[in-house]
Amino acid sequence: MGKILLLNGPNLNLLGKREPGVYGTKTLKHLEAEIIELGSAHNTEVCCCQSNHEGELIDRLHLANEDDTKGIIFNPGAFTHYSYAIRDAIAGIQVPVIEVHISNVHAREEFRHTSVIAPVAHGQIVGLGLKGYELAFFALIDLITV
Ligand code: DQA
Repeated sequence: MGKILLLNGPNLNLLGKREPGVYGTKTLKHLEAEIIELGSAHNTEVCCCQSNHEGELIDRLHLANEDDTKGIIFNPGAFTHYSYAIRDAIAGIQVPVIEVHISNVHAREEFRHTSVIAPVAHGQIVGLGLKGYELAFFALIDLITV
């Protein structure tokens, strides 16, 4: 089957250490290993990428459109709330993107209530912790295999 990209934006390299009360104690490495393992169980290659830089995230989205990636699980971090450039990158590619947020952004500060990504995402999973990435994986598997 096709390839899935697990893409994480700014500050998510600090998972496990960063505000553990909000984001939990598991590391990004742990999360990536879990999704890679899910991939192997479903005959799907999972590529993992994290960047703190807007342009790098955009370049990675563009690359996914060229390298036979079938779906993208994407937590854009704080860029979610204001990056029109990332939104346009997603709108400009054909690969479906599932937007994931670990925390319930709607129960937090007002500025987190808006996502400029959501209108161009295939779907959005919010507030279910790292489980959200797993659910996004299964949603993409369903999408890819129909
Ligand atoms: C986040 C929520 C964002 O508001 C925040 O800036 C993050 C993480 C989440 O996963 O809950 O960096 O995307």
